Amino acid sequence: MNETRRAVLAAMADGPVSGPDLADRFDVSRAAVWKHVEALRHDGFSIESGDEGYVLAAIPEYGGTAVEYSLDASFSVEYHESIESTNDRARELAVTGAADVVVLANEQTGGRGRLERPWSSPPGGIWMSVLLRPDLPPARAPLLTLAAAVAVTRAARGAGVDAEIKWPNDVLVPEPTADRGGLKLAGILTEMEGEANRVNWLVVGVGINANGDPDELDEQATSIQAQVGAIDRRSFVQTVLESFDDLRDSPESIVPAWREYASTLGQRVRVETSGGAIEGDAVDVTEYGALVLETDAGESVVHAGDCEHLRPTN
Ligand code: BTN
Repeated sequence: MNETRRAVLAAMADGPVSGPDLADRFDVSRAAVWKHVEALRHDGFSIESGDEGYVLAAIPEYGGTAVEYSLDASFSVEYHESIESTNDRARELAVTGAADVVVLANEQTGGRGRLERPWSSPPGGIWMSVLLRPDLPPARAPLLTLAAAVAVTRAARGAGVDAEIKWPNDVLVPEPTADRGGLKLAGILTEMEGEANRVNWLVVGVGINANGDPDELDEQATSIQAQVGAIDRRSFVQTVLESFDDLRDSPESIVPAWREYASTLGQRVRVETSGGAIEGDAVDVTEYGALVLETDAGESVVHAGDCEHLRPTN
């Protein structure tokens, strides 16, 4: 949202405030004030105008401007009711040089998961992709995936959901009978373009089963609604983005926070990597987010793969 529009909105929230007053305060014409008011009404803000001026009466339930309003993080939000994939749209924006943009959708018609799997994204979920241009070498980029998993897990726990992270970035709710030892609440798909020592852009795609018809869920999945009832997606997205923003500002805090929420450490695991399967005890993650395994052949550090928890090691 443009700075003047943001300021006009804040003034109306403390209103009533007259059009001429707003024009003086922000050094714009009255016509410009009127345009901002109309644009905000178009975005779903309810703005009443009485004798004393404008006052903000209600904010929209969801949408780009709704999420940007009172968001304490420097992201702009592009909202779509329905889109093929927010990651694809964020990649398009990356080519235009954009940064710190969140593409958010109510529904995806061609959502993509890791390992080229489709990702079911019906209306009511939280489907978003954060486009970043981090000042990081590519080897450290996975840290931002861990940061997103931490931010989602924190927000889910704040909403009363018993969420935990399976390496590297599955957010699960424990369920002993489930294939992965838990039901999938959220997943993260990170895509990037970079050179040898520099990330050009990075898209962190986050899919959270939030609200929506529980009958539409895959049998290995769960949703926030199924766990604790429907949530206010606007404030949930804000909580995730604010937490993610704090973590990216202090990268040294990401791995310790991840360890706090991870269910993988202390498990016997089997990781399918591009070079084959590795089995061992998960003992740690490195400062770059790689998984450290103790295997029969010694220590092994795994950077990427599909991880299955076999049993606790003790
Ligand atoms: C996984 O396989 O666990 C990752 C799933 C990532 C899904 C999200 S939804 C928003 C973004 N857009 C996509 O097409 N995929 C990611």
